[in-house]
Amino acid sequence: MRVFSLSSAKTVVIQNTKNNCSSCSGNKSTKNISVWARKPLIGILTGALSLSLLVFSPSSIAAGSLSSRYQLSPPSSADYCRDDEEEHLEAETAPDLVANEAIVEEAWEIVNESFLDTGRHRWSPESWLQKKEDILSSSIPTREKAHDIIRRMMTSLGDPYTRYLSPAEFSKMARYDMTGIGINLREVPDKSGRLKLKVLGLILDGPAHSAGVRQGDEIVSVNGEDVRGKSAFDVSSMLQGPNETFVAIEVRRGNCGRIQSINVQRQLVARTPVFYRLEHKDNGATSFGYIHLKEFNALARKDLVTAIKRLQDLGASYFILDLRDNFGGLVQAGIEIAKLFLNKGDTVIYTVGRDPQSQKAIMAETGPLVTTPVIVLVNGNTASASEIVATALHDNCSAILVGEKTYGKGLIQSVFELHDGSGVVVTIGKYVTPHHLDINGNGIDPDFHNIPSWSEVTKHLSDCKMLKQGHVEPCC
Ligand SMILES: *[C@@H]1O[C@H](CO)[C@@H](O)[C@H](O)[C@H]1NC(C)=O
Ligand SMILES: *[C@@H]1O[C@H](CO)[C@@H](O)[C@H](O)[C@H]1NC(C)=O
Ligand SMILES: *[C@@H]1O[C@H](CO)[C@@H](O)[C@H](O)[C@H]1NC(C)=O
Repeated sequence: MRVFSLSSAKTVVIQNTKNNCSSCSGNKSTKNISVWARKPLIGILTGALSLSLLVFSPSSIAAGSLSSRYQLSPPSSADYCRDDEEEHLEAETAPDLVANEAIVEEAWEIVNESFLDTGRHRWSPESWLQKKEDILSSSIPTREKAHDIIRRMMTSLGDPYTRYLSPAEFSKMARYDMTGIGINLREVPDKSGRLKLKVLGLILDGPAHSAGVRQGDEIVSVNGEDVRGKSAFDVSSMLQGPNETFVAIEVRRGNCGRIQSINVQRQLVARTPVFYRLEHKDNGATSFGYIHLKEFNALARKDLVTAIKRLQDLGASYFILDLRDNFGGLVQAGIEIAKLFLNKGDTVIYTVGRDPQSQKAIMAETGPLVTTPVIVLVNGNTASASEIVATALHDNCSAILVGEKTYGKGLIQSVFELHDGSGVVVTIGKYVTPHHLDINGNGIDPDFHNIPSWSEVTKHLSDCKMLKQGHVEPCC
């Protein structure tokens, strides 16, 4: 099971696969479904799901929905340990096959729990329940038929981004694997409220799973460094490294289990999306860094930080960040990248889920890596996570936007694996700019169509800041 948040306008990436794999779901994937019992999976799934909106600010996670779920079971520590072991035993001995009906129901429940209807608002829990009764009133003879039903069920929601993924399409999503070893980490509070890093999702037969890591394991150290107290995002990037190299991790199974050392061979399907060079102008008197970011995948932030530091060492006095034709990717990567340019306490973005009242502000928690002016290049294909970065920097007067109006996709999807290796992508939220504008369907207007002179850039940014201050404290 694996979930992560995605915001990309480029649906073709995963839709136009040549080999339709619905016919091969009978051999490889069905063999592997046995790993988790159904109940815990749904619990974790929904927990992780609500996190996908929150995950961007680790401190809010402690207060998030996960804590309430995890508080249900542990009255005494002895009981807690036993529960944990039983859960694992049950997981390992679960039945080998998942019924076709169960797969359909699994997809139905994901939508029931989390779908955000941002379109014509036709969705209601009542109509959705009716749909389930209609669909499950007769038996589903084949897996292919089940997938077909899920496909139509998703289409009926009328959301262009909510869709079914065949096993082949789903496995292409592995390029968004945040760790490069096929696990999904979350901060989970224990009884005393201390955050632990637990494996909440695991790619079946992925590197970590093959090496013996199991769902629910706590990650204690990475390459000898104690990771307790670090965020899931930080530890995910510590796990990343060159393809086929090894990473040594220590995990604790269950709450009172012993610590186990496991060597995992990385298998990185993501390629670097960062390309950069130092450029000179004014006859070499000024140097600036040009950085092209093509996609917000698992390597985006890490490789961007490396690029920025190198360019700074080489004497770059400002940066051009090229987000043209960048359709997005991982929401979290977009947010973490925006934070590199913002002051502590600045708002990156607001996210809104099904409950419109629950708008969440995501803020930068540390100081910026870049304090020099930034020029962000945008065009009509600058979408989703790219728009998060562009507006966050723009609204805080850290950057000017140059080019064309952006695409206007402000919806967040989560990607879920179903028990048989297929999956669904479901719209679960949307985001709103620091100035409270809905990006979706609107796009962002650039400040300039062509790169202006340097004096215009600095004037524009200082005017922006003055205007902001005037806004905060109205004069007279
Ligand atoms: C479906 O969602 C509703 C809330 O919208 C909830 O009350 C209900 O229990 C859910 N049904 C199932 C079967 O999960
Ligand atoms: C990683 O290594 C494997 C095996 O050599 C190879 O098939 C795969 O393409 C490599 N991935 C990348 C991103 O280089
Ligand atoms: C950035 O945003 C924060 C709050 O979102 C605001 O207080 C601050 O003034 C902004 N900074 C600038 C330079 O606009």
